[in-house]
Amino acid sequence: MADLLIGQTLRFTGDPLTEGLAVAQHSSRGGVLIEGGRIAEVGEADALRAAYPAAQVTDYGAALISAGFIDAHAHYPQTAMIASWGKRLIDWLNAYTFPEEMKFSDPAYAAAIAARYFDLTQSYGTTTVCSYCTIHPESVDAFFGEAQRRGVRAFAGKTCMDRNAPGALTDTPQSAYDDSRALLEKWHGRDRLSYVVTPRFSPTSTPDQLEAMGALWREHPECLMQTHLSEQTDEIAWVKTLFPDARDYLDTYEAHGLLGPGAAFGHAIYLESREIDRLREVDASLIHCPTSNTFIGSGLFDTGGLAASGHRIGLATDTGGGSSFSMLRTMAAAYEVAQLRGRALHPAELWWLATAGSARALRAGDRIGNLAPGLEADIAVIDLASTPAIAQRSARATDIWEALFPTIMMGDDRAVAAVWIGGRPI
Ligand code: GUN
Ligand code: ZN
Repeated sequence: MADLLIGQTLRFTGDPLTEGLAVAQHSSRGGVLIEGGRIAEVGEADALRAAYPAAQVTDYGAALISAGFIDAHAHYPQTAMIASWGKRLIDWLNAYTFPEEMKFSDPAYAAAIAARYFDLTQSYGTTTVCSYCTIHPESVDAFFGEAQRRGVRAFAGKTCMDRNAPGALTDTPQSAYDDSRALLEKWHGRDRLSYVVTPRFSPTSTPDQLEAMGALWREHPECLMQTHLSEQTDEIAWVKTLFPDARDYLDTYEAHGLLGPGAAFGHAIYLESREIDRLREVDASLIHCPTSNTFIGSGLFDTGGLAASGHRIGLATDTGGGSSFSMLRTMAAAYEVAQLRGRALHPAELWWLATAGSARALRAGDRIGNLAPGLEADIAVIDLASTPAIAQRSARATDIWEALFPTIMMGDDRAVAAVWIGGRPI
Protein backbone atom coordinates (compact mmCIF):
# COMPACT_ATOMS: atom_id res chain seq x y z
CA MET A 1 0.00 0.00 0.00
CA ALA A 2 1.12 3.55 -0.70
CA ASP A 3 1.83 6.16 1.96
CA LEU A 4 1.24 9.85 1.39
CA LEU A 5 3.14 12.24 3.68
CA ILE A 6 1.78 15.76 3.80
CA GLY A 7 3.41 18.93 5.13
CA GLN A 8 5.83 21.54 3.88
CA THR A 9 8.29 19.96 1.45
CA LEU A 10 11.81 20.91 0.40
CA ARG A 11 13.67 19.36 -2.50
CA PHE A 12 16.49 20.34 -4.84
CA THR A 13 16.74 20.20 -8.62
CA GLY A 14 20.45 21.10 -8.55
CA ASP A 15 23.27 22.42 -6.37
CA PRO A 16 22.43 25.83 -4.88
CA LEU A 17 26.13 26.52 -4.18
CA THR A 18 26.90 26.62 -7.88
CA GLU A 19 23.54 26.96 -9.62
CA GLY A 20 21.75 29.49 -7.46
CA LEU A 21 18.85 29.34 -5.04
CA ALA A 22 16.17 28.65 -7.67
CA VAL A 23 17.09 24.95 -7.51
CA ALA A 24 15.61 24.79 -4.01
CA GLN A 25 11.93 23.91 -4.42
CA HIS A 26 9.66 24.53 -1.47
CA SER A 27 5.97 23.84 -1.12
CA SER A 28 4.06 25.05 1.92
CA ARG A 29 1.47 22.29 1.41
CA GLY A 30 3.27 19.53 -0.39
CA GLY A 31 3.11 15.78 -0.47
CA VAL A 32 5.45 12.83 -0.88
CA LEU A 33 3.99 9.57 -2.14
CA ILE A 34 5.88 6.45 -1.05
CA GLU A 35 5.46 3.04 -2.59
CA GLY A 36 7.61 -0.08 -2.19
CA GLY A 37 10.25 1.74 -0.15
CA ARG A 38 10.79 4.42 -2.77
CA ILE A 39 9.48 7.88 -3.44
CA ALA A 40 6.90 7.53 -6.21
CA GLU A 41 5.85 11.14 -6.57
CA VAL A 42 6.42 14.58 -5.06
CA GLY A 43 3.88 17.33 -5.58
CA GLU A 44 1.12 19.39 -4.07
CA ALA A 45 -0.79 17.74 -1.23
CA ASP A 46 -4.29 18.28 -2.64
CA ALA A 47 -3.41 16.98 -6.09
CA LEU A 48 -1.72 13.86 -4.66
CA ARG A 49 -4.65 13.17 -2.33
CA ALA A 50 -7.04 13.37 -5.28
CA ALA A 51 -4.86 11.20 -7.50
CA TYR A 52 -4.23 8.53 -4.83
CA PRO A 53 -7.38 8.30 -2.70
CA ALA A 54 -6.37 4.86 -1.40
CA ALA A 55 -2.99 6.02 -0.05
CA GLN A 56 -2.56 6.07 3.71
CA VAL A 57 -2.14 9.74 4.64
CA THR A 58 0.16 10.99 7.40
CA ASP A 59 -0.35 14.73 7.82
CA TYR A 60 2.61 16.47 9.44
CA GLY A 61 0.90 19.87 9.42
CA ALA A 62 3.40 22.74 9.25
CA ALA A 63 6.44 20.50 9.73
CA LEU A 64 8.99 20.25 6.93
CA ILE A 65 9.35 16.98 5.01
CA SER A 66 12.92 16.61 3.73
CA ALA A 67 15.31 13.94 2.65
CA GLY A 68 16.96 12.47 5.73
CA PHE A 69 20.37 13.84 6.64
CA ILE A 70 23.51 12.19 5.30
CA ASP A 71 26.61 12.26 7.47
CA ALA A 72 29.47 11.76 5.03
CA HIS A 73 32.28 11.13 7.56
CA ALA A 74 31.96 9.72 11.07
CA HIS A 75 33.70 7.32 13.42
CA TYR A 76 30.99 5.26 15.10
CA PRO A 77 33.59 3.68 17.48
CA GLN A 78 34.15 7.14 18.98
CA THR A 79 30.54 7.40 20.16
CA ALA A 80 31.32 6.83 23.82
CA MET A 81 34.29 9.24 23.99
CA ILE A 82 32.75 12.18 22.13
CA ALA A 83 33.41 15.55 23.78
CA SER A 84 36.75 14.60 25.35
CA TRP A 85 38.50 17.68 26.63
CA GLY A 86 41.62 19.60 25.95
CA LYS A 87 43.66 17.99 23.15
CA ARG A 88 44.56 18.68 19.56
CA LEU A 89 44.55 16.01 16.85
CA ILE A 90 47.59 13.82 17.51
CA ASP A 91 47.37 13.99 21.32
CA TRP A 92 43.60 13.54 21.10
CA LEU A 93 44.08 10.36 19.06
CA ASN A 94 46.62 8.96 21.52
CA ALA A 95 44.90 10.04 24.73
CA TYR A 96 41.27 9.30 23.96
CA THR A 97 40.65 7.71 20.60
CA PHE A 98 43.06 4.81 20.40
CA PRO A 99 42.27 3.50 23.93
CA GLU A 100 38.55 3.54 23.08
CA GLU A 101 39.06 1.90 19.68
CA MET A 102 40.97 -0.97 21.35
CA LYS A 103 37.74 -2.05 23.01
CA PHE A 104 36.28 -3.04 19.63
CA SER A 105 38.16 -6.32 19.60
CA ASP A 106 35.18 -7.42 21.72
CA PRO A 107 32.25 -8.14 19.36
CA ALA A 108 29.71 -7.58 22.16
CA TYR A 109 31.07 -4.10 22.87
CA ALA A 110 31.17 -3.28 19.17
CA ALA A 111 27.57 -4.42 18.76
CA ALA A 112 26.39 -2.38 21.74
CA ILE A 113 28.07 0.79 20.48
CA ALA A 114 26.83 0.26 16.92
CA ALA A 115 23.24 0.00 18.21
CA ARG A 116 23.70 3.08 20.38
CA TYR A 117 25.23 4.98 17.47
CA PHE A 118 22.31 4.26 15.14
CA ASP A 119 19.81 5.11 17.91
CA LEU A 120 21.49 8.47 18.42
CA THR A 121 22.01 9.43 14.78
CA GLN A 122 18.46 8.42 13.83
CA SER A 123 17.11 10.54 16.70
CA TYR A 124 18.79 13.49 14.98
CA GLY A 125 17.24 12.71 11.60
CA THR A 126 20.32 11.13 10.03
CA THR A 127 19.37 8.31 7.69
CA THR A 128 22.74 7.47 6.11
CA VAL A 129 26.27 7.62 7.52
CA CYS A 130 29.66 6.87 6.06
CA SER A 131 31.69 5.58 8.99
CA TYR A 132 35.15 4.46 9.87
CA CYS A 133 35.25 1.33 12.00
CA THR A 134 38.37 0.17 13.91
CA ILE A 135 41.13 -2.15 12.76
CA HIS A 136 39.04 -5.08 14.03
CA PRO A 137 36.93 -6.92 11.45
CA GLU A 138 34.45 -7.46 14.31
CA SER A 139 33.81 -3.71 14.37
CA VAL A 140 32.79 -3.79 10.71
CA ASP A 141 30.51 -6.78 11.23
CA ALA A 142 28.88 -4.99 14.18
CA PHE A 143 28.26 -1.82 12.17
CA PHE A 144 26.90 -3.49 9.05
CA GLY A 145 24.91 -6.03 11.06
CA GLU A 146 23.12 -3.23 12.89
CA ALA A 147 22.59 -1.21 9.69
CA GLN A 148 21.19 -4.28 7.97
CA ARG A 149 18.74 -5.00 10.81
CA ARG A 150 17.49 -1.42 10.56
CA GLY A 151 17.29 -1.46 6.77
CA VAL A 152 19.43 1.65 6.36
CA ARG A 153 21.71 2.60 3.50
CA ALA A 154 25.15 2.74 5.11
CA PHE A 155 28.81 3.02 4.16
CA ALA A 156 31.78 1.82 6.23
CA GLY A 157 35.15 0.16 6.19
CA LYS A 158 37.81 -1.38 8.38
CA THR A 159 40.24 1.34 9.48
CA CYS A 160 43.73 0.25 8.50
CA MET A 161 46.87 1.26 10.46
CA ASP A 162 50.29 -0.38 10.54
CA ARG A 163 52.42 2.22 12.32
CA ASN A 164 52.31 5.09 14.83
CA ALA A 165 49.51 3.49 16.78
CA PRO A 166 49.45 1.09 19.77
CA GLY A 167 50.36 -2.50 18.96
CA ALA A 168 46.83 -3.64 19.76
CA LEU A 169 45.55 -1.34 17.03
CA THR A 170 47.89 -2.19 14.19
CA ASP A 171 47.57 -4.61 11.32
CA THR A 172 50.05 -5.19 8.48
CA PRO A 173 49.92 -4.40 4.77
CA GLN A 174 48.96 -8.01 4.05
CA SER A 175 46.42 -8.46 6.86
CA ALA A 176 44.87 -5.08 6.10
CA TYR A 177 44.45 -6.15 2.49
CA ASP A 178 43.15 -9.64 3.36
CA ASP A 179 40.74 -8.50 6.08
CA SER A 180 39.45 -5.55 4.05
CA ARG A 181 38.91 -7.74 1.01
CA ALA A 182 37.07 -10.40 3.01
CA LEU A 183 34.82 -7.75 4.59
CA LEU A 184 34.22 -6.13 1.20
CA GLU A 185 33.21 -9.47 -0.28
CA LYS A 186 31.00 -10.18 2.71
CA TRP A 187 29.14 -6.86 2.90
CA HIS A 188 29.45 -4.74 -0.23
CA GLY A 189 26.20 -4.61 -2.17
CA ARG A 190 24.35 -6.69 0.40
CA ASP A 191 20.96 -5.04 1.02
CA ARG A 192 21.72 -1.30 1.30
CA LEU A 193 25.33 -1.64 2.47
CA SER A 194 28.51 -0.38 0.81
CA TYR A 195 32.07 -1.21 1.78
CA VAL A 196 34.58 1.67 1.82
CA VAL A 197 38.34 1.11 1.50
CA THR A 198 39.63 2.89 4.62
CA PRO A 199 43.30 3.66 5.33
CA ARG A 200 43.04 5.92 8.42
CA PHE A 201 45.57 8.53 7.22
CA SER A 202 49.12 8.62 5.91
CA PRO A 203 50.81 8.98 9.34
CA THR A 204 49.41 5.61 10.48
CA SER A 205 50.08 3.67 7.28
CA THR A 206 53.43 2.67 5.83
CA PRO A 207 53.90 3.20 2.10
CA ASP A 208 53.52 -0.58 1.77
CA GLN A 209 50.13 -0.48 3.44
CA LEU A 210 48.97 2.45 1.31
CA GLU A 211 50.10 0.43 -1.71
CA ALA A 212 48.07 -2.56 -0.55
CA MET A 213 44.99 -0.36 -0.05
CA GLY A 214 45.54 1.11 -3.50
CA ALA A 215 45.68 -2.38 -4.96
CA LEU A 216 42.42 -3.36 -3.27
CA TRP A 217 40.70 -0.20 -4.49
CA ARG A 218 41.97 -0.83 -8.02
CA GLU A 219 40.41 -4.29 -7.87
CA HIS A 220 37.14 -2.81 -6.57
CA PRO A 221 36.64 0.62 -8.13
CA GLU A 222 32.90 0.25 -7.43
CA CYS A 223 33.73 0.99 -3.77
CA LEU A 224 34.48 4.37 -2.27
CA MET A 225 37.84 5.08 -0.59
CA GLN A 226 37.91 7.31 2.50
CA THR A 227 40.75 8.83 4.48
CA HIS A 228 41.88 12.07 6.16
CA LEU A 229 43.73 14.92 4.46
CA SER A 230 45.38 18.12 5.74
CA GLU A 231 43.43 18.53 8.96
CA GLN A 232 46.05 20.21 11.20
CA THR A 233 49.31 21.99 10.53
CA ASP A 234 51.26 19.71 12.95
CA GLU A 235 49.88 16.69 11.13
CA ILE A 236 50.97 18.08 7.75
CA ALA A 237 54.49 18.75 9.09
CA TRP A 238 54.61 15.15 10.38
CA VAL A 239 53.52 13.81 6.98
CA LYS A 240 56.39 15.76 5.40
CA THR A 241 58.90 13.98 7.65
CA LEU A 242 57.30 10.57 7.09
CA PHE A 243 57.11 10.97 3.30
CA PRO A 244 60.11 13.15 2.38
CA ASP A 245 59.72 12.45 -1.32
CA ALA A 246 56.04 13.35 -1.58
CA ARG A 247 55.15 16.59 -3.38
CA ASP A 248 52.47 17.31 -0.77
CA TYR A 249 50.06 15.46 1.55
CA LEU A 250 47.73 14.45 -1.29
CA ASP A 251 50.68 12.93 -3.12
CA THR A 252 51.16 10.40 -0.30
CA TYR A 253 47.79 8.95 -1.40
CA GLU A 254 48.12 9.64 -5.10
CA ALA A 255 51.47 7.84 -5.32
CA HIS A 256 49.81 4.66 -4.03
CA GLY A 257 46.67 4.60 -6.15
CA LEU A 258 44.47 6.27 -3.53
CA LEU A 259 43.28 9.24 -5.56
CA GLY A 260 40.43 9.08 -8.01
CA PRO A 261 36.72 9.55 -8.39
CA GLY A 262 35.15 7.83 -5.40
CA ALA A 263 37.82 9.10 -3.01
CA ALA A 264 36.38 11.02 -0.04
CA PHE A 265 38.89 13.11 1.90
CA GLY A 266 37.87 14.26 5.37
CA HIS A 267 38.80 17.80 6.49
CA ALA A 268 40.97 19.07 3.56
CA ILE A 269 41.59 22.40 5.27
CA TYR A 270 45.16 23.33 4.40
CA LEU A 271 45.34 22.49 0.71
CA GLU A 272 48.13 23.64 -1.57
CA SER A 273 47.24 24.83 -5.04
CA ARG A 274 48.44 21.62 -6.71
CA GLU A 275 46.23 19.63 -4.37
CA ILE A 276 43.21 21.84 -5.05
CA ASP A 277 43.67 21.49 -8.81
CA ARG A 278 44.30 17.75 -8.69
CA LEU A 279 41.30 17.04 -6.43
CA ARG A 280 39.10 18.97 -8.84
CA GLU A 281 40.61 17.28 -11.88
CA VAL A 282 39.87 13.77 -10.62
CA ASP A 283 36.54 14.89 -9.10
CA ALA A 284 37.32 13.51 -5.64
CA SER A 285 35.08 14.48 -2.71
CA LEU A 286 36.03 16.80 0.12
CA ILE A 287 34.15 16.26 3.37
CA HIS A 288 33.65 19.30 5.56
CA CYS A 289 33.63 18.45 9.28
CA PRO A 290 33.02 21.83 10.92
CA THR A 291 32.29 20.90 14.55
CA SER A 292 35.40 18.72 14.56
CA ASN A 293 37.53 21.39 12.93
CA THR A 294 36.65 23.88 15.65
CA PHE A 295 36.53 21.37 18.54
CA ILE A 296 39.98 19.85 17.89
CA GLY A 297 41.29 23.27 16.87
CA SER A 298 42.03 22.36 13.25
CA GLY A 299 40.96 25.31 11.12
CA LEU A 300 38.42 26.77 8.72
CA PHE A 301 37.40 24.77 5.63
CA ASP A 302 36.81 26.94 2.58
CA THR A 303 33.30 25.86 1.58
CA GLY A 304 32.60 28.91 -0.58
CA GLY A 305 35.88 28.87 -2.46
CA LEU A 306 36.00 25.12 -3.05
CA ALA A 307 32.36 25.00 -4.16
CA ALA A 308 32.99 27.87 -6.57
CA SER A 309 35.92 25.99 -8.09
CA GLY A 310 33.65 23.01 -8.71
CA HIS A 311 34.79 20.64 -6.00
CA ARG A 312 32.45 17.91 -4.82
CA ILE A 313 31.70 18.73 -1.16
CA GLY A 314 29.94 16.75 1.54
CA LEU A 315 29.11 17.65 5.13
CA ALA A 316 29.81 15.53 8.19
CA THR A 317 29.91 15.36 11.96
CA ASP A 318 33.22 13.49 12.23
CA THR A 319 31.88 12.02 15.48
CA GLY A 320 33.70 11.90 17.97
CA GLY A 321 36.36 14.45 16.87
CA GLY A 322 33.22 16.32 16.01
CA SER A 323 31.31 17.40 19.09
CA SER A 324 27.84 16.35 17.95
CA PHE A 325 25.80 13.59 16.32
CA SER A 326 23.49 16.19 14.82
CA MET A 327 23.58 17.39 11.23
CA LEU A 328 21.52 20.43 12.31
CA ARG A 329 24.32 21.39 14.69
CA THR A 330 26.80 20.59 11.92
CA MET A 331 25.01 22.95 9.52
CA ALA A 332 25.15 25.65 12.20
CA ALA A 333 28.89 25.14 12.58
CA ALA A 334 29.34 25.21 8.79
CA TYR A 335 27.51 28.53 8.77
CA GLU A 336 29.72 29.95 11.53
CA VAL A 337 32.95 28.75 9.91
CA ALA A 338 31.95 30.22 6.55
CA GLN A 339 31.10 33.51 8.28
CA LEU A 340 34.65 33.60 9.66
CA ARG A 341 35.84 33.25 6.07
CA GLY A 342 33.55 36.04 4.89
CA ARG A 343 30.85 33.97 3.17
CA ALA A 344 27.33 33.63 4.60
CA LEU A 345 26.05 30.24 3.49
CA HIS A 346 22.34 30.40 2.70
CA PRO A 347 19.98 27.99 4.53
CA ALA A 348 19.31 26.31 1.18
CA GLU A 349 23.04 25.76 0.69
CA LEU A 350 23.44 24.34 4.20
CA TRP A 351 20.45 22.02 3.80
CA TRP A 352 21.71 20.87 0.41
CA LEU A 353 25.13 20.07 1.88
CA ALA A 354 23.52 17.98 4.64
CA THR A 355 21.35 16.00 2.20
CA ALA A 356 21.91 15.97 -1.57
CA GLY A 357 25.45 17.35 -1.35
CA SER A 358 26.60 14.61 0.99
CA ALA A 359 24.79 12.01 -1.15
CA ARG A 360 26.62 13.35 -4.21
CA ALA A 361 29.93 13.29 -2.33
CA LEU A 362 29.29 9.60 -1.58
CA ARG A 363 28.26 9.08 -5.20
CA ALA A 364 24.83 7.98 -4.08
CA GLY A 365 22.80 10.93 -5.31
CA ASP A 366 20.83 8.64 -7.62
CA ARG A 367 19.55 6.74 -4.57
CA ILE A 368 19.34 9.02 -1.55
CA GLY A 369 19.55 12.62 -0.39
CA ASN A 370 16.57 14.24 -2.06
CA LEU A 371 12.83 14.08 -2.55
CA ALA A 372 12.43 12.85 -6.10
CA PRO A 373 10.64 9.97 -7.81
CA GLY A 374 12.71 6.79 -7.80
CA LEU A 375 14.88 7.71 -4.82
CA GLU A 376 14.79 5.58 -1.69
CA ALA A 377 12.30 6.89 0.85
CA ASP A 378 14.67 7.99 3.63
CA ILE A 379 12.98 11.02 5.09
CA ALA A 380 13.29 13.39 8.05
CA VAL A 381 10.30 15.45 9.16
CA ILE A 382 11.43 18.63 10.88
CA ASP A 383 9.38 20.65 13.37
CA LEU A 384 10.25 24.30 12.71
CA ALA A 385 8.96 25.39 16.14
CA SER A 386 10.45 22.68 18.36
CA THR A 387 11.46 24.85 21.33
CA PRO A 388 10.15 28.16 22.69
CA ALA A 389 13.30 29.95 21.53
CA ILE A 390 12.96 28.64 17.98
CA ALA A 391 9.18 29.03 17.86
CA GLN A 392 9.19 32.69 18.83
CA ARG A 393 11.73 33.40 16.08
CA SER A 394 10.21 31.29 13.30
CA ALA A 395 6.77 32.77 14.10
CA ARG A 396 7.81 36.08 12.59
CA ALA A 397 9.42 34.55 9.49
CA THR A 398 8.22 35.81 6.14
CA ASP A 399 9.53 32.94 4.01
CA ILE A 400 10.67 29.34 4.39
CA TRP A 401 14.34 30.26 4.75
CA GLU A 402 13.72 32.61 7.62
CA ALA A 403 11.47 29.94 9.14
CA LEU A 404 14.13 27.23 8.70
CA PHE A 405 17.26 29.09 9.77
CA PRO A 406 16.45 29.25 13.52
CA THR A 407 16.11 25.45 13.51
CA ILE A 408 19.45 25.12 11.69
CA MET A 409 21.13 27.34 14.27
CA MET A 410 19.33 26.23 17.43
CA GLY A 411 17.64 22.92 16.65
CA ASP A 412 18.45 19.52 18.13
CA ASP A 413 16.75 16.13 18.33
CA ARG A 414 13.56 17.79 19.56
CA ALA A 415 13.19 19.23 16.04
CA VAL A 416 13.01 15.77 14.49
CA ALA A 417 9.30 14.96 14.38
CA ALA A 418 9.59 11.73 12.39
CA VAL A 419 12.08 9.63 10.47
CA TRP A 420 11.27 7.23 7.64
CA ILE A 421 13.81 4.64 6.51
CA GLY A 422 13.26 2.78 3.26
CA GLY A 423 9.61 3.83 3.20
CA ARG A 424 8.85 2.84 6.79
CA PRO A 425 8.43 5.10 9.83
CA ILE A 426 10.77 4.26 12.71
N1 GUN B 1 42.87 11.72 11.59
C1 GUN B 1 43.17 10.42 11.72
N2 GUN B 1 42.26 9.78 12.49
C2 GUN B 1 41.37 10.68 12.84
C3 GUN B 1 40.19 10.62 13.63
O1 GUN B 1 39.79 9.59 14.17
N3 GUN B 1 39.51 11.80 13.79
C4 GUN B 1 39.92 12.95 13.21
N4 GUN B 1 39.20 14.05 13.40
N5 GUN B 1 41.02 13.03 12.47
C5 GUN B 1 41.74 11.91 12.29
ZN1 ZN C 1 37.60 11.44 10.76
